[in-house]
Amino acid sequence: MPAHKPVKKAVFPVAGLGTRFLPATKAIPKEMLAVVDRPLIQYAVDEAREAGIEQMIFVTGRGKTAIVEHFDVAYELETTLAARGKDMNALEATRATPGDIITVRQQVPMGLGHAIWCARAIVGDEPFAIFLPDELMIANRNGGTGCMKQMVEAYGEVGGNLISVLEVPEEEVSSYGVIAPGRAVSPHLTEVTGLVEKPKREDAPSNKIISGRYILQPEVMRVLEGQEKGAGGEIQLTDAMARMIGTQPFHAVTFEGRRFDCGSKLGFVEATLALALEREDMGAEVRAMAQRLLE
Ligand code: UTP
Repeated sequence: MPAHKPVKKAVFPVAGLGTRFLPATKAIPKEMLAVVDRPLIQYAVDEAREAGIEQMIFVTGRGKTAIVEHFDVAYELETTLAARGKDMNALEATRATPGDIITVRQQVPMGLGHAIWCARAIVGDEPFAIFLPDELMIANRNGGTGCMKQMVEAYGEVGGNLISVLEVPEEEVSSYGVIAPGRAVSPHLTEVTGLVEKPKREDAPSNKIISGRYILQPEVMRVLEGQEKGAGGEIQLTDAMARMIGTQPFHAVTFEGRRFDCGSKLGFVEATLALALEREDMGAEVRAMAQRLLE
C-alpha cells in the first residue's frame, strides 16, 4: 500500500472573467485561447494525464461551455476529415476518456478559493491537484517531465500539501503570493512555514512565488468553508493554505522547466513565440520571420 493516498483528481478553476484579455474573452473563455495551436486548457489537461491524474473537475461558469466541448468527440468534423483523407491525430489527442471530465459551476466568480470550494462534493475525502490553466508550465526539452509529475513525485516522498514555486527578481514579488521557506528537504523541495499574498518588497519573506499548481489535502475545503473575503474582496486560496500550515506537512517544489504567465498579454505573446520557435514543423520559418520583423 502506498504511504500517501494517490492523487487521482484534479480541479481546473476556469470560471474567471478573463478581464485582462478583453475583448478576446468576451465570447470565448480565456482558457480556450491557443498558444500556437493548442488551447491553454489542453496543455493543462495533458500535464495532468502525464502525472497519472484520472479525473478532471472543471469549475466553470457562464459562457464556458466551449472548454468542455473541446474534449468531446466531434463526429461531424472527424467524419469530414476521414472522408477527405486528412490526418486525425490532432483531433484524437483532445478526446477525453469517457466519464473522466466532470463539471461543477461557480455561479458568481468570488475568487480562486471559492472556485475550489465549489468542487468539494466531487473531491470528497481525497487529496487533489489544482491547475490554473493560464499558467503554462512547459517541461524541459530532452526528457524533462511536466510540473505536476514532478510534484506528484515529491508528494510520494513527503505527502501532505505541495505548491509549485519559482524565483522572480525581488522587485516583482509584490504582484504575487510569496512563501516563507523553511528547511530544505532537497535542492528542489523546501518546507513552507508561511504564505503571504502580494507583500511589499521589503516585507517579502523570499523571492519564491506561488505558481499555478498545487496538491492539497481535502481538509482545505473545510477551511475554505468558513473563510472571509480577503485581498480584492475575493475568497483567496492563499489565505486558506496559510491556515493549513502547521496542521499538516506543507512543501514547495521548484519546477525544473519553464513557466509562462498566459493570463497576461506579454506572457501570452512570449509563450507563443517561445513554443513556435521550438516547433520542428515551423521553428526555422518563425525565426526567419522574427528576424525580418526586427529589422
Ligand atoms: P485570475 O486571477 O487570472 O482571474 O484567476 P481571471 O478572471 O481568470 O482573469 P483576469 O484577471 O480578470 O484577467 C486565476 C484562475 O482562477 C480562476 C480563473 O478562471 C483562472 O483560471 N477563477 C478565478 C475562477 O475560476 N473563479 C474565480 O472567481 C476567480
